[in-house]
Amino acid sequence: MQRMENDPLKPRIVESDDGSHTLRVDALNEHYHSHKGAVQESNYVFLKMGLELFKEREHIRILEVGFGTGLNALLTALSANGPSVHYVTLETYPLEMDLVRQLNYPAIIARDQAETFFEAMHNAAWNEPVAIHDRFTLEKRATALQDLPTIDPVDLVYYDAFAPHAQPELWEPVIWTSLIERMNPKGVLVTYCAKGQVRRDMQAAGFEVERLEGPPGKREMLRATKP
Ligand SMILES: C[S@@+](CC[C@H](N)C(=O)[O-])C[C@H]1O[C@@H](n2cnc3c(N)ncnc32)[C@H](O)[C@@H]1O
Repeated sequence: MQRMENDPLKPRIVESDDGSHTLRVDALNEHYHSHKGAVQESNYVFLKMGLELFKEREHIRILEVGFGTGLNALLTALSANGPSVHYVTLETYPLEMDLVRQLNYPAIIARDQAETFFEAMHNAAWNEPVAIHDRFTLEKRATALQDLPTIDPVDLVYYDAFAPHAQPELWEPVIWTSLIERMNPKGVLVTYCAKGQVRRDMQAAGFEVERLEGPPGKREMLRATKP
């Protein structure tokens, strides 16, 4: 989508407390990540509390809601010794490459291949699987979660939508009933959000929900498991 220079919906880069960039959308009063530390939050909420549970598995399928900057995908592709990953990620407002190239994730993460994988992920074609390396396949879908057709069931969901105050439709009870149907038994959903209503709605959809300590600067987060 082409947006005007001073469009309040146009994301702009800001630095979070750990030195890594995040994006801010003024009109939504919302950041793409925690302003207390973007890389720190992604590593903690999605990798430590989610991906690590599957470290003994050979292969897993992940569904991410909100590709955005690609930070969660990049950290997952760089995580060593875990399962091979098929990563389906949804996005309704792809970022412009000019903006993506200014993000400091490869420099901050400072790992071999970070730059190459990051570039490859953002250049990857939409709506088809693309191998980023031999153990990580990325499938970017240019679709809203609400319009996602049937996909092969997933083991892990990175639920990284904008917060309920900014996008309430992505936190409605129907979201959790549709997601639980898309997951394998013992599948896990992790999100930075810890709202009581969200937790109760997840439980009503059939998930077993844990309230976990949050990343630095956030008291709690949620982890929901399909029985
Ligand atoms: C909080 S940001 C997080 C993005 C990303 N995980 C990252 O690390 O940058 C939420 C993302 O969800 C996208 N989004 C908005 N509505 C959506 C929808 N209905 N379905 C899927 N993604 C959506 C936004 O465009 C935005 O990129």
